[in-house]
Amino acid sequence: MSVPIPVNAVTADVGDTFDRLWSELLPVGPTPAGGYRRFAWNDADLSARSWFSAAAAACGLDVQTDRNGNLWAWWLPAGWSGDPREAFVTGSHLDSVPDGGAFDGPLGVVSALCAVGVLRSRGVQPLRPIAVVVFADEEGARFGVACAGSRLLTGALTPGAACALTDVDGVSLDEAMRRAGVDTTQLGRDDETLRRVGVFVELHIEQGQALVDLDAPLGIGTSVWPHGRWRFSFEGEANHAGTTRMTERRDPMLPFAAAVIAARILATKQGGVATFGRVHVQPNGTNAIPSTVTAWLDARGPDQAVVDAIVSGVSANAHARAAAERVDLAVTAESVSAVVEFSADANARLHRVLDSMVSVGRVPDLGTGAGHDAGVLSSAIPTAMLFVRNPTGVSHSPAEFAERADCLAGVEALAALMADWVSTPPVEAS
Ligand code: GLV
Ligand code: MN
Ligand code: MN
Repeated sequence: MSVPIPVNAVTADVGDTFDRLWSELLPVGPTPAGGYRRFAWNDADLSARSWFSAAAAACGLDVQTDRNGNLWAWWLPAGWSGDPREAFVTGSHLDSVPDGGAFDGPLGVVSALCAVGVLRSRGVQPLRPIAVVVFADEEGARFGVACAGSRLLTGALTPGAACALTDVDGVSLDEAMRRAGVDTTQLGRDDETLRRVGVFVELHIEQGQALVDLDAPLGIGTSVWPHGRWRFSFEGEANHAGTTRMTERRDPMLPFAAAVIAARILATKQGGVATFGRVHVQPNGTNAIPSTVTAWLDARGPDQAVVDAIVSGVSANAHARAAAERVDLAVTAESVSAVVEFSADANARLHRVLDSMVSVGRVPDLGTGAGHDAGVLSSAIPTAMLFVRNPTGVSHSPAEFAERADCLAGVEALAALMADWVSTPPVEAS
């Protein structure tokens, strides 16, 4: 038996719900620079998680925390007994990069709650479970590894490696999670939770300008470029900036500078992208030669060979210059993600539902260079992504933006996908 689900335009009520949820979340953890520093398990992140639990409960959802600190808010069909299975799951993350924008992550979470509201307001009785999920620590801004919550869930990150990660103040991820009430002895691949998911659709702000160029409010994700983070630890010798002869210095800043230039040249030559966006200098004094420079290379490319060529080339340049300066260098891979192709079946279903919706316009396919929990999860469950147009293409910055009308088109699309998925009972039960 299947229940016909109407797929209408978003009502004024949905716009009101979106505005209300957005305005509740917006004041959670802003910085003077105009962005957010919601780093995993810090006060701002915990406030955002509390906001979510309250907002989801207000939507009538049952909020649970999985073994890895990810939040799941459930809507089970009437009369459902036992664990959820073959659920439609949507959501994203609430943590941010340093001075990150308002949309990266939160747009997917707010849109998911709004989509639940759309189904409720239309009297839809789902025949399959629905969940809105908030993945913990997507950006890796505090402990270095991106998508730690979803990597732990799938087993791509081991509990031992996760617990040993530390932030700049020496606080371990283990300690930070325990302080937030997570039992870290239970971390690790969680098949019980994964088994509940039929499909995960992550709605996300587009982090480029392809949709502007294509004149489309929404796009469907096809793939994620392979990418990763590598830590470059240069160790020289601290000394006086005024009295140490140039020939006697062991200055780690020089091989670091060589690495930055090499990243630019090699990424351009290879057709990839490479960034040193984070650097720690010790002791960080104007009149002192540094003792250590620790910097992180973020490298991405259309295929693995490009990423490998960039990383090995940057490392070779840095090692050569380090040797010339009598500086020690260690290069360590911190989080590495292979290319992701999203589920062809899920994408065909997205097209089938969305291509017939006049209100969302033409929905083009898009690849992306940005990492997402949906990419990590694709190794374990069918996943798909929906991108919302970003007029400037700027992201990981307070300038990140999406027009309200495009956000509402995203909600409408998500609601239609949700309604389509839950209009038939789970296969095992039919
Ligand atoms: C996450 O936003 C990433 O692509 O680094
Ligand atoms: Mn991001
Ligand atoms: Mn994101």
